[in-house]
Amino acid sequence: MVFASDAMPTGWMGADFCGLKGGEVVAVWGAGGVGQMAARSAQILGAERVIVIDRLPDRLSAAARRWGVETINYAETDVLEALRELTAGRGPDACIEAVGMESHDVGPIHAYDKGKQATRVTTDRPTSVRQAIMACRKGGTVSIIGVYVGLVDKFPLGAAMNKALVLRMGQMHAQRYIPMLLDRIAVGEIDPGYLATHPMSLEQGARGYEIFEKKEDGCLRTVLHPQAA
Ligand SMILES: NC(=O)c1ccc[n+]([C@@H]2O[C@H](COP(=O)([O-])OP(=O)(O)OC[C@H]3O[C@@H](n4cnc5c(N)ncnc54)[C@H](O)[C@@H]3O)[C@@H](O)[C@H]2O)c1
Repeated sequence: MVFASDAMPTGWMGADFCGLKGGEVVAVWGAGGVGQMAARSAQILGAERVIVIDRLPDRLSAAARRWGVETINYAETDVLEALRELTAGRGPDACIEAVGMESHDVGPIHAYDKGKQATRVTTDRPTSVRQAIMACRKGGTVSIIGVYVGLVDKFPLGAAMNKALVLRMGQMHAQRYIPMLLDRIAVGEIDPGYLATHPMSLEQGARGYEIFEKKEDGCLRTVLHPQAA
């Protein structure tokens, strides 16, 4: 129930923004709680294939095990090349970005983004947004649910314009989606309980935040509970 006000409506909205009609290939950047819920929501809304991208093997395997999605580890594989290969050169029909302003990467572009962010020339690192725009097929949809707060650099506007992409983004509309999602939990269509990898007491809160922030010990979500040991 806790996640019906957090990762679930966010992931659902990311998939809802894609306007799926059935049979699409959907790529999701980020295998955190939000990305995992976006992947499952895309399946429920009709995607035929869902491909989840991250670098954390435990998160990728949790998504693959639970939802049967395909996965790409961006630390080991060229994401754009892999997506082209998996879609016969076309690109995914829809791309959901569930990473946000601290998007990470390997290689020189990450050093460039980190440098610009550290010197306050930009506020956000948009690696995964860039990739989503570059990967998406012509006429496809890029749905951004990772949070961005300010300015980004090297935004591929030309690719978005020339491929006639639909860009949708926003803070989730919790109150619109929660009643419908509770019904889906009740019939077992989507069960986000597994995201609560680390139930902890209120006293352990600071450590809980640390574990979540550093993504230690396979943590997807810390849940603070007054009765937890
Ligand atoms: N739009 C909304 O209303 C809303 C609501 C809740 C959360 N959010 C946002 O959604 C985003 C995801 O939330 P979360 O709780 O799942 O976060 P999280 O930190 O648990 O997960 C983010 C994942 O992205 C991965 N990642 C980093 N760089 C990547 C890259 N270049 N390519 C692919 N994966 C990459 C990380 O390894 C991590 O697993 C955050 O920005 C969060 O603030 C948005």
